[in-house]
Amino acid sequence: MSDRRRTLAAVALGLAAATGCRQQMADQPYYRPYEPSEFFADGRSARPLERGVIHRAQHLESDPLATGLTREEWGRIYARRANPVVDLAAPTPVENRDATFGVPRFDQRVAGNPKVFAETYPFPVTPDDLDRGRDRYTIYCAVCHGPLGNGQGKIWERGYLLPTSFHTARVGDKELDESKRNAPASPLGYSRGYALWGISVPMREVPVGYIYEVIAKGYGGMPNYSAQIGPADRWRIVAYVRALQYSQHEPAAAAAGGKP
Ligand code: HEC
Repeated sequence: MSDRRRTLAAVALGLAAATGCRQQMADQPYYRPYEPSEFFADGRSARPLERGVIHRAQHLESDPLATGLTREEWGRIYARRANPVVDLAAPTPVENRDATFGVPRFDQRVAGNPKVFAETYPFPVTPDDLDRGRDRYTIYCAVCHGPLGNGQGKIWERGYLLPTSFHTARVGDKELDESKRNAPASPLGYSRGYALWGISVPMREVPVGYIYEVIAKGYGGMPNYSAQIGPADRWRIVAYVRALQYSQHEPAAAAAGGKP
């Protein structure tokens, strides 16, 4: 055998070995997406999760940490989903307060009213949480609501709908032509979401779960931030919004040395 032939034979052998190896790796048993299966009775190769499987770090749907709603409200949603009532004669859900979930349809300040939104934080808020809240607020909210929470961020300066102010007093107002204020008619610092349900409540008195809900789902002209901000950080931002509110409106008792 000439040298040349020997080299060729060696290359051919090498190639055969390499292909053989590739063949074994590629021949692993697996299904391509949507490929049918003869093994499972329902013929589907993509298997549903077993009942009760919980992803790592998954929050249970009913957990106020993830919903901002009270467990009572969640119970109502759950019951309705399990047993939907279709009553064609009934007013549309938007008009039927009792049939609508997770919207600011009751004034929680009135004793005896159903509680919709959580009124307490799902975990104790520490100074570190507040720092993180300020950090996240500055990144995600200040562009529109302003670093002071007065609703006059940079985006609004460029003609965006004036965001709700978190304060009922004018705070650090910019000197701008009044006619350029693209502002809805609701009073300064009052929730527009509650106003839709005929409830007049200043932002500093809305339940913490409501602010959480607005971050998670958005409201009106405000986009939702659920993809950018995880549940725990949403609560930290809520705590920081409250801190901003306290900075402008210290409860009288606190000013007098008592507890706020
Ligand atoms: C792109 C601008 C924009 C950003 C960013 C933004 N908001 Fe808003 N927000 C608005 C606007 C506009 C409204 C008023 C919506 C309306 O009246 O339709 C609003 C309303 C609200 C309300 C009050 C809803 C009510 O009942 O009046 C809350 C609370 C709120 N935003 C919190 C936040 C928080 C917290 C963040 C940061 C996570 C944030 N927003 C980020 C524009 C923004």
